Amino acid sequence: MSDRVLIIDFGSQVTQLIARRVRESGVYSEIHPFNKVTAESLTAFAPKAVILSGGPASVTEAETPRAPEAVFTLGVPVLGICYGEQTMCAQLGGKVEGSDHREFGRAFVDVAEDCALFHGVWSPGGHHQVWMSHGDRVTALPPGFRVVATSDGAPFAAIADESRRFYGVQFHPEVVHTPDGARLLRNFTHGVAGCTGDWTMQAFKDQAIAAVRRQVGGGRVICGLSGGVDSSVVAALIHEAIGDQLTCVFVDHGLMRQGEADQVVSVFRDRFNITLVHKDASELFLGKLAGKTDPEEKRKIIGATFIDVFEEEARRIGGADFLAQGTLYPDVIESVSFIGGPSVTIKSHHNVGGLPDRMNMKLVEPLRELFKDEVRALGRELGLPDEMVGRHPFPGPGLAIRIPGQEITRERLDILRKADSVYLDEIRKSGLYDQIWQAFAVLLPVRTVGVMGDGRSYDYACALRAVTSTDGMTADYFPFPHDFLGRVASRIINEVKGINRVTYDITSKPPGTIEWE
Ligand code: XMP
Repeated sequence: MSDRVLIIDFGSQVTQLIARRVRESGVYSEIHPFNKVTAESLTAFAPKAVILSGGPASVTEAETPRAPEAVFTLGVPVLGICYGEQTMCAQLGGKVEGSDHREFGRAFVDVAEDCALFHGVWSPGGHHQVWMSHGDRVTALPPGFRVVATSDGAPFAAIADESRRFYGVQFHPEVVHTPDGARLLRNFTHGVAGCTGDWTMQAFKDQAIAAVRRQVGGGRVICGLSGGVDSSVVAALIHEAIGDQLTCVFVDHGLMRQGEADQVVSVFRDRFNITLVHKDASELFLGKLAGKTDPEEKRKIIGATFIDVFEEEARRIGGADFLAQGTLYPDVIESVSFIGGPSVTIKSHHNVGGLPDRMNMKLVEPLRELFKDEVRALGRELGLPDEMVGRHPFPGPGLAIRIPGQEITRERLDILRKADSVYLDEIRKSGLYDQIWQAFAVLLPVRTVGVMGDGRSYDYACALRAVTSTDGMTADYFPFPHDFLGRVASRIINEVKGINRVTYDITSKPPGTIEWE
């Protein structure tokens, strides 16, 4: 088994980035909430090292989160980051106090002494940019520790107890605004903890294939294929593991983009030789959507119809023992919530959330341990084409939520599909596709007057959207050059009958959302 690093989460917004950085250095890591880690679970996980994350609480108050004591008696290296440093100090006999000198954002540390965290990266006397976000600070060290770096707001910006291999940093090495952060983390996992860095996608693939074979045995597996990255990678992986025991079902709701349905069939059936049921259910979906314009109602109809069609097709092929799902690690990580209570539903994204419960099949979820970029790397490892593996996310309800405020008809879908494909074509030609998280056209519920040739036109307006993001939770609009936007607008108006005006959406998220509905 590869080396494992355990990250204990105290609720920082950036805890996931710690896991990303550690994995990027070839070491497998998992995030567990502080209140779920016990002495037994620690021993069972057998980490080579433990990292304590940041978090919003203050150790100066009673009853705020603490690291399980067993972390400090396990005999493995421990790195405390921000709140993690503070609680480590408080728990081991040091002192933490509130401070008037808060540091948020960019700050600089002065390296006072050498230590194993800094080897080959920072030397004494160095002055380096880091990213801080703290109010409290350590004011007295626990026995055995020494200060190795300071900053204006944090006299104990980095501390070390090398005999126990305990380290603490007040800054966040996991964010890109600490330019040397990834190397410092690597020093901790590789240098201090001795991890070998052998966790590669090739290794993961082999392990995942073996795990699927063990779980499934001689059973039959069914997998819903949508053409998106996650389900495509799941299908390719499971097929490599168990071949014909897998059947994929592609429920074509008629709300896909141009050429997408054909691509799914040609890649999976023709190239990969996977048993694939392609169910064209567009009539059914469009019939159920007739007259509907409310976004949530559309989502519910599409989700429920999808489940009905999928179940019907599963029955038709004689059922299966397992249902394969493309659940990813961010869906699995239990978040540490300090606010409590249910959060407001902005959009009900989990369109097919009810499927596993209803179908009475066991789940196969081979991507549960992976982040999205790791899924892409695995897809490449499995030989999936680049255009499939690098594809932008596409919502389950498809184009139905990109025709806001209007009934979904074939005519409108066709107009939207053409505009969208011109837009994506120009983005690809300009080499911008991979810099963008998601780009798409929206058909607006408004007709506008134009003049084309010598005549008057009275056609639809469309909006173009393109955003950058790392997880879809927050996003900013993509700053296309004006000549690019001009070129796309003129192509759409010339080539797509039914559209005579094009606008570009410059709303960020929040306050907007990525999709219009
Ligand atoms: P929003 O619009 O909420 O979108 O900013 C965030 C991400 O989620 C996708 N999205 C959906 N995905 N079913 C899905 O599977 C949905 O109903 C849905 N609505 C939005 C959106 O495309 C973006 O990637």
